[in-house]
This record gives sequence, C-alpha cells and structure tokens, in this order.
Amino acid sequence: MSRRRQIYEGKAKILYEGPEPGTIIQYFKDDATAFNAQKKGTISGKGVLNNRISEHIFTLLGQIGIPTHFIRRLNMREQLVRQVEIIPVEVVIRNVAAGSISKRLGIEEGTALPRTILEYYYKDDALGDPMITDEHIACFGWASQEEMHDVADMAIRINDFMCGLFAGVGIRLIDFKLEFGRLWDGDYSRVILADEISPDGCRLWDSTTNEKLDKDRFRQDLGGEVEAYQEVARRFGLLPEGSVSTVLDLDEHRKARGKKDS
Ligand code: TMP
Ligand code: ASP
Repeated sequence: MSRRRQIYEGKAKILYEGPEPGTIIQYFKDDATAFNAQKKGTISGKGVLNNRISEHIFTLLGQIGIPTHFIRRLNMREQLVRQVEIIPVEVVIRNVAAGSISKRLGIEEGTALPRTILEYYYKDDALGDPMITDEHIACFGWASQEEMHDVADMAIRINDFMCGLFAGVGIRLIDFKLEFGRLWDGDYSRVILADEISPDGCRLWDSTTNEKLDKDRFRQDLGGEVEAYQEVARRFGLLPEGSVSTVLDLDEHRKARGKKDS
C-alpha cells in the first residue's frame, strides 16, 4: 500500500481513506500541541505508543459493550476504524480537579471531586474549543438530545470502567477527553465512541507518587514525556519488559526505509 488519499490532518493524527468503503486509516503522529496549538513539539515514539494504548482501551471497551469505531490495528502507527461523522463536541470527564477546572474555579489540583463532572467543549480550534452546555448543543443543532443522552450514558460507563482499569495498574484517572461520531446506516445513525484514548487526552497520575504520566509533562515542560507514555504501555503489558527501545528503534528503522505500512 503506498499513496493513499489523505482525508484530514489533525494535530496528532492523519486520516487516510481505508481499504473498503466506510473505513478509515488513523495514522498516529509524534506531533504534540498544547494550549490550543500555541505550544508545538514532537515526542519521538509517541505515535507508536498511543496507537497501542488506544487499541488496548478501545478493545476492552468493545468487550464491555461500548460501541466504538475501532476495527483493528494495522501496524505500529496505524489502525483501521469505521468512518463516522464526528460530533463537534469534546466530552471531558473529571474525577479529580486539575487543569482548567482548577484554574477557572480555584480548586486545588488533586482535590477529589465528590461526584464525576461531565463537561462539553465545542470542537473548533479557531475558537479555542470553548466550553458549552447542553443548551448550546441543542440550540445550534450540533447533536440531538437523544444523541447527547447516549453520549453522557456512554461517557459515565467508560469512566467507571477506565477508573478500574487504570487503578489495576497503579494509576489514578484524573480526567480525560472523549469524542463521539455518528455511524450512518442508510437514513439512520447511531452514536459510537471515536478518536483515541491515550495519555495525550487523559491525566494519569501514579497512584502512590502522583507522578504525572501524561501530556501534562509536555504542557508543563516537565521532561520525560516518552518515558511516561512508555510506562503506561508497560503497565498494561503492551511492551515486553526491557524491550521499549527496541520497539521504538524498529519504528525508526521502518520510517527510515519509508515503509510505514508493513
Ligand atoms: P483541561 O483541564 O485542560 O480542560 O483538560 C481536561 C482533559 O481533557 C485533560 O485530560 C486533557 C484533555 N484535553 C484534550 O484531550 N484536548 C484538549 O484540547 C483539551 C483542552 C483537553
Ligand atoms: N490538546 C491540546 C491540549 O491538551 C490543545 C491543542 O491541541 O491545542 O492542550
């Protein structure tokens, strides 16, 4: 497979036309952005790790009955997914105060929230993804009330499952972002989980040390970004002990030979 049609390039991924109608290939880049792309960089090997971590989580979510776009991982940087119409609403789920909620409401980072908070942001880079409510979503027709009911339902189930999943590997799931899409079947559509779930869009703190194992290392210039992502993958058993550099070196080797698809 060589020159496929590129459908879209985002900040961390490229989407290509898939091999069959209704499918898409998601290519995970090493590019990282923060603060609405005001800060840009690369985290060498991030794409490989996010591809694996997201595959792992989407597979497990599928097994508990959450409908997702994930079909299968194709290679180190690509996965085959179902084509959906992305709902332009980013769903943020918070269990512990951190990031923008701490800043906006003056709540000390690390404060456990007495209940899970669901927030919605309008997915529009030019506007800086402003926070919105159900009222805006309904008013501007970004999603129907039935769709948002399903979105909220799934977000809570996903959060419950993921809190346990991460707790099992000694990680606290502080908050994370989800995106959903419409899967069309003739005139009907249903909402399924789309995009990715990786340390790019989650806050993950080590349960005992509170060490940050996510993109805040990049946002806050803490260093050790790729090591943190590797640690998450390693705890899930996705990297055989001691083989981390081999996996990433192999990917570099492939890239150098210009063979991304094998
Ligand atoms: P926030 O505290 O900056 O609002 O972020 C909440 C969570 O959502 C955090 O885990 C990072 C994730 N997130 C994204 O994935 N993309 C974004 O554009 C933003 C703003 C947050
Ligand atoms: N996703 C980035 C962040 O979390 C924002 C951006 O991509 O611009 O800060």
